[in-house]
Amino acid sequence: MPDIEKDKVIAVLNQILESELAGVVRYTHHSFLVFGFGRIPIVSWLRQQADESLLHAHQAGEWITTLGEYPSLGIGALLDSHTTDITTILRESLTAEDVALGLYRDLLALVKDRSVALEEYARQMIAVEEMHAGEVDKMLRKPGTVGTSGERGAAH
Ligand SMILES: [Fe+2]
Repeated sequence: MPDIEKDKVIAVLNQILESELAGVVRYTHHSFLVFGFGRIPIVSWLRQQADESLLHAHQAGEWITTLGEYPSLGIGALLDSHTTDITTILRESLTAEDVALGLYRDLLALVKDRSVALEEYARQMIAVEEMHAGEVDKMLRKPGTVGTSGERGAAH
């Protein structure tokens, strides 16, 4: 089994760490901006996502120190669209989660057949993030439709 290219792996892990930390801030911020009848379950869902992003940040940071390197103190990009519209909030989340998913895919490409543990970690995170994106997509669909939110018009 060839060795991992540590510098490249660390660079991606640091980007993952920063992007997950941005997720903690983004979900927490959005959780303050939910008003109306659906407030209670949506606030609680957003705060669960913040907790999950923090857990993912911990996992990435632990991998960085496991590999003997120094974790970044930076944070990923944060956009403030000043919206209280749930659809916009969810779409922004989906875009940000897509970025994170891309980073986990980059990690998988770097560690595949080189480190069983890192490969397991990357695959597990890809599965978790894909299921998360699927869940958000369902929340973005109009009740009564089945097609994914990207396939509007394919509704039955
Ligand atoms: Fe995550």
